Amino acid sequence: MKYLLNQSNYCTFSVFEHNKLPGRSYFIPYPSRAEADAAGPLEKRYRSSKVICLNGDWDFKFYPDPREVPTTLDTDAVVFDRIDVPSCWQFRGYDRPFYVNVRYQFPFRPPQIPTLDPVGPVFSWIGGDTGVAPRRIRPHGEYNYVGVYRRKLRIEDPSLRHVISFLGVAGGMDVYCNGLYVGYSEGAHNTAEFDLTEKLRSGENELVVVLHRWSNGSYLECQDMFRNNGIFRDVLLRVSESRDLQDVDARTEKQETGYSLALSAVTYADTTVRFTLEGRGLRRTAEVPTQERRASVTFEDLDVVEWNAEKPALYSVYFETPSGCVRESIGFKTVEIRGDVFLLNGKKLKLHGVNHHDTHPKNGYCLTPAEIERDVLLCKQYNIDTVRTSHYPPDPLFLELADLHGLYIIDENDLETHGGWAMKLPPSHNRISHDPKWKAHYLDRIARLYQRDKLRANTCVLMWSLGNEAGGYCNTDAMYDYLKARSNLPVHYEAAIHSRRVAYDVGSEMYPEVEDVRAVGEHKRKESRLNDRPYFLCEYAHAMGVGPGNAEGYWEQIYRHDNLMGGCVWEMVDHAVLHPDGSYTYGGDHGEWEHDGNFCVDGLFYPDRSPSTGAKIIRFVYRPIRIRRVHDDVFEVFNTTAFTAADRYSIELRWNSGETFRFHTHTEPLARSRVRLPLGKGNEDGLMAVAVVTDRQTGREVSREQLTLDRRFPAVPETCPLPDWFRVDDGVVRVTLPNGQIMTSAEEETVLYRASTDNDTKLYRSTMLPWSRQREKLIIAAPQEDGVMVFRKLSNDKAKFLITDHYQGTEDGVLVTSTLRRVSGSGDVPRFGKAFRLEPRFDRVRYTGRTGESYCDMKEQFPIGEVSCAVCQMTEPNLKPQESGNRCDCSQASVSDGEASVCFRAVEKPFELAVKPYTDRALFDMKHRSDEVCTGTYITIQAFQQGIGTASCGPGIQPEYRFPSDREYTLRFTVTVSPEQEKI
Ligand code: GAL
Repeated sequence: MKYLLNQSNYCTFSVFEHNKLPGRSYFIPYPSRAEADAAGPLEKRYRSSKVICLNGDWDFKFYPDPREVPTTLDTDAVVFDRIDVPSCWQFRGYDRPFYVNVRYQFPFRPPQIPTLDPVGPVFSWIGGDTGVAPRRIRPHGEYNYVGVYRRKLRIEDPSLRHVISFLGVAGGMDVYCNGLYVGYSEGAHNTAEFDLTEKLRSGENELVVVLHRWSNGSYLECQDMFRNNGIFRDVLLRVSESRDLQDVDARTEKQETGYSLALSAVTYADTTVRFTLEGRGLRRTAEVPTQERRASVTFEDLDVVEWNAEKPALYSVYFETPSGCVRESIGFKTVEIRGDVFLLNGKKLKLHGVNHHDTHPKNGYCLTPAEIERDVLLCKQYNIDTVRTSHYPPDPLFLELADLHGLYIIDENDLETHGGWAMKLPPSHNRISHDPKWKAHYLDRIARLYQRDKLRANTCVLMWSLGNEAGGYCNTDAMYDYLKARSNLPVHYEAAIHSRRVAYDVGSEMYPEVEDVRAVGEHKRKESRLNDRPYFLCEYAHAMGVGPGNAEGYWEQIYRHDNLMGGCVWEMVDHAVLHPDGSYTYGGDHGEWEHDGNFCVDGLFYPDRSPSTGAKIIRFVYRPIRIRRVHDDVFEVFNTTAFTAADRYSIELRWNSGETFRFHTHTEPLARSRVRLPLGKGNEDGLMAVAVVTDRQTGREVSREQLTLDRRFPAVPETCPLPDWFRVDDGVVRVTLPNGQIMTSAEEETVLYRASTDNDTKLYRSTMLPWSRQREKLIIAAPQEDGVMVFRKLSNDKAKFLITDHYQGTEDGVLVTSTLRRVSGSGDVPRFGKAFRLEPRFDRVRYTGRTGESYCDMKEQFPIGEVSCAVCQMTEPNLKPQESGNRCDCSQASVSDGEASVCFRAVEKPFELAVKPYTDRALFDMKHRSDEVCTGTYITIQAFQQGIGTASCGPGIQPEYRFPSDREYTLRFTVTVSPEQEKI
C-alpha cells in the first residue's frame, strides 16, 4: 500500500496535533455491568470486547538517515524488521540508549529542530561528561531518525466507531491507515487518540505510524532520563456503538450534610444513561436520558467513608447505557489549604514521598501492568505514601492502583525545558515558558493531563503539577488558570521559585539546605511566598550512590512545623541498561557523544527493584511509629500517620538481656504520648533494646528502632610485653595466626580518605581526591618496655599530620592506640582508620554493630546486632562501585578462614568497621560492578568516617557529621587471634 508521507508536521511549530481527538477521561468500556465487574484492575484493559489491544509484534523499519525515508512510502516494497509494541527502539537494537540530564541532543534554537541534515554543532556549558566548561560538539552520524511501524488489523464491523488510543509514544507521530493520512501527535506521555472509522473497511486493514525522533515538542521534553523513542505504552483500539460512552466524569464535593457526587457522561448519540454509586452499604442510582448527547446526575447527602492512603476506601461508580458499561472506582476526599496548612479530609498530614519515573532496565520507559503494580506495592512496603509522577503523567493504571492500594499522587505534566539553561550563556530559565508563542503547546499538554486523569482527582491525586524545571511564568500562568477553572485541587510547580511567581498554591523547592526548610517552617524565608502557604519538598535527599545522608534532618523540621507538608525523595529507581550477561550500563557506555554518566543511577532501588541501603533508610525515616526514651523508664511514642491511631501497630521491645515486652498505645495521628515501660536487666554491654513495630492488621513489620539507654565498652586493659605472634617491622604490623596465615598492615596502613562516593562531589569534581593523594612516611619505630611506638608523617593535598601508633601487649592480645594530630593545612578529615590485609581465603566476617551499611549521618535504619556474613556481603552492589559498606557503632569484629580468626575489639568507645575484598584505592578506578575483583581481605578499623550528605545534587555533609582537622583524634582497639572453634 502506498502512502504520501507528511514531511512537515514534526517540524512545524504551529502543528502540535492534527486530527487528534480532544482529551477525555481514561476508562475501559465493557458491554455489560457483569463483564465490567468481572475484570480485575490489571487485566481490565485487555478483557473487554469493546477494546482491542494492539500490543504485539509490529513491522518496523528504522531509518538512521531521514533523507532515506521515501516521500511516498510503499509498504509492500519495504523490507521490515519486527519489533514488539510497546517498546523503546533504543532498547531493541536501533540507535542506542542515550542518557543526558539537562541538555538537548540538538542545537538549542527553539522552536527549530533538526530535520534532514546531520545534527550539530551543539553548544553546552555544563554536563557530567565535561564538568563546567563551555564547548561545542559536532556529533557524527547523528540525525533526527525515523522509525516506521506497520501493523495489519482485521475489522469485523467497520460501521462501528473505531478510535485508536496510544497511551504513550515518544517522538513526533504521523498516523496513517489504508493508504491515507490520519493525523499527527506529540506529547510523549499523554494519550493520543484518532478516529479511524472513516478509513477502515471490513477485513484486513493496514495501520502505519511514522515516528520522528524529535519534533518541536521535544523542547518541552528535556527530562533527566534516557532519551528514548517508540510506541512505549499500550495501543488500544476502542470499538463503540452510537449509544456508547464518549466521556465520563465524576466530581465529589463535601457539603454540610455529607458528600455530593456529580456524575456526567457524554455519549456518541442520544440515549439513556444509568448512573449508579455503590459500595459499603450505599446504593444510589438514576436513569437519565441524554440531551445533546449529555446526561448528568448529582447524588446528595452521601454518608461515605472518606478515602485516604492509609485506608483507601473506594466506591464503585457505574455509567451504563443500553450498549455498554463503564465501571470506575472512586473515593471521597477533601483537599484544602487553610492558611499555610495543607489539609486532607480536614486533617493535617505529612507526605512521605518519592519521585517515580517509568524506568525498566530492559525496556526503557515500558512497564507492564504487573511491574506497575510492583512499584506501587514497593512504596507501600517501604512506608512511602506519596508519589510525584516525575516528570510526566504515568500510565493511567498507576493512578488506578494508587487509588486502590492507597498512595497520594502529585500528577505532573509532561513538560520540562531544562536544556534552555545548560545550552545558553548566560543561562535562561524561562525563555520558552515565558514566550507566549508557546502558550497553545503548554495548554494542550495540561489539558490532556487534566482530561485524562480527572476521575482520579477525586481520589489519589492530591495536587496537579505544571511540569518540572521549565521556569516561568507566562505560559505556566496560563496552565494554572486552565486547571483552576476546572479543578479545586491545589497546583504545584517548583520552578516557579525561579520566576517572579515564586510559588503557586504551595511553595515548592528541590534540594534546599535543612536550614532553609527550617526558615520556611519559622516563616522567615526572604521569599515571602514560601512563608505564607504550605511548603513541599518536591525533591530532596538525592539517592545517588551511597546515601542519602541526613534525610532525617528534614523530617525533624517537617514534623515540627505545620506548614511543612513533607516531600519526595529523588528518586525511586536507578535508570540503567541491563545486558544479557547481567551487567548494567549507564550514561556514556553506549557511545553517547555527550552524556551525564551515572547521574541517572540515583534511585532508592536498583534497576531490578532490589532495595539499596537508601530504600532502607527511607523506610526507616518514614516509619509510622517513632519511639524515643525520654528518661528513666519513660518513653515517647510519636504517631506520624495522619489518620491511623497508633494502636494499629504493636511495638515489641527486645532488650539485650533477652526480655521482650509487647505493647501498643492509643496515640492519636500526628501526636505524641508518653508511656512507662518495663526496662530490661541489661548485660555486660549495657542496656539496649530494639523496638520492632508491626502492623497488626497486615502483619507487616514496619520498622526496627535502636534504643540505647546505656552502652558499655571494655576499659583500657593492663599492658604487658607484646605476644610473639605480633610483630612490628619498620612500622609494619605482622600478625601470625594459629594456622600460620599472616595478617599485615595494608600497604596504606593509615587511611584518611575514602574512595569517592557519588556524594563526594562538587560541581562534578571529586572532593575526595585531594585527601586520597596521601603519602605516608615512617619517622621512627621505637621499642618500648611493653611494645612499640611508631611515628609517621602523613601528608596529602590538604594537610600534613603526625600519626603515633602505640602497640602494647595485653593479657590476651595487643592494644593498638593510634593518634592523629594535624601539623599544618586545613579542612575536615574524611576518615581515620588503620587498615590490615589478609589473604582472600579469609572470607567470613562476624561483627557486633549496626547490622547494615551505615555512616554517621545515615545509621539509624539498622539497629545494633550481631552479624555473620561473607566478606563480599560487606560492600554494596552499587552500579558504579564506590566506597560502601561501612558499619557504625561496632564493639567487635572478627575475620576468619574457617581455621583461624583475628578479632578486633573496641576499647572505651565503638569503632567503625570496613571490610572489603579490594583496597579503597582500587575502587577509584572501578566503573562497573564487573570491575570489582577480589585481591585480598582488607579490614579497616576506624575512629570515624565523615557522613555522606547528598552533594551529588543537594546539600553537603552537615557540620555535625564532619571531623575538623584541627582536633586530635585517638583510635583504640585490641587485636586477638584464635583457632576457629566453630565455623562462622
Ligand atoms: C532535579 C530534576 C530531576 C533530576 C534531579 C537530579 O533538578 O528535577 O529530574 O535531574 O535534579 O537527579
